[in-house]
Amino acid sequence: MDTYGIIGWPVSHSLSPAMHNAAFKALGIKAVYGLLPLHPSKLKEGIEGIRVLNIKGVSVTVPHKENVMAFLDEVDNIAREIGAVNIIINQEGKLFGVNTDWIGAKKAIEQKINLSGKKAVVIGAGGAARAVVYALVKGGAQVLIFNRTYEKAQKLASELGGEPFPLSQIKNATGDVLVQTTSVGLNEDQSPVPKEILSRFKVVMDIVYKPLETRLLREAKEAGCEVIDGLEMLVYQGVEQFFLWKNIRPSAELMRKAALEELSGEKNGR
Ligand code: ATR
Repeated sequence: MDTYGIIGWPVSHSLSPAMHNAAFKALGIKAVYGLLPLHPSKLKEGIEGIRVLNIKGVSVTVPHKENVMAFLDEVDNIAREIGAVNIIINQEGKLFGVNTDWIGAKKAIEQKINLSGKKAVVIGAGGAARAVVYALVKGGAQVLIFNRTYEKAQKLASELGGEPFPLSQIKNATGDVLVQTTSVGLNEDQSPVPKEILSRFKVVMDIVYKPLETRLLREAKEAGCEVIDGLEMLVYQGVEQFFLWKNIRPSAELMRKAALEELSGEKNGR
């Protein structure tokens, strides 16, 4: 029985155990995936623990995605470019860091629209935005980055591509796809995008999944857009993580169902 897990702080609300354990079960693989709460001050020891305990694979979440790189044996070039690792593969004690967040974002968007030659608007310039911008550029889209702090949009655009704008100019934005990557809307009925501009877009994606239908997605639906909720990127990055560990892709639908069940369990106070 192999062991897998997720490091983060806090990590207790992660949907990854539900998704990965459902996939192991469906595929008849004897393995277990658990929560590995790891305080930032103990990151080095925690990574050593992966080797010592022979944990075969580890998902990495906030706040470790950037800092973990220093303690790994090798980091994939794309993860280095994005500046974040969200999965560790343990190959006989050698730890490899990879990023599947950008693949998750790309697959989630490409379920609805082919990115090549399209115009994409990104809200935010933090860690999540980096994976999204990388995915959009890789997919061949023209990318416009709107951020509250203009300097951060500038930095992101110069490193990964795209054109920076202050968020105050969002009312003039147009495009085919809009992706919201900030925490605005998380457990609150707020949206960083004025609803008047939403009908200009074909597809609107939010990476926030609590609530599953954020105010942005509700208003986008009302404006006639196709919407992609925050679970989609999460599920597809998970499918790719599983693939890197076990060389087989579980059904995205199955993982989404497991994540949804976990979310509704939480809501019911489990
Ligand atoms: P993550 O890794 O989740 O992306 P982060 O790196 O802290 O988190 O980035 C948070 C992003 O959300 C940033 O783009 C931030 O804008 P600033 O760069 O101006 O800080 C954005 N953000 C957070 N709260 C916001 C708010 N109330 N309005 C607009 N943008 C907000």
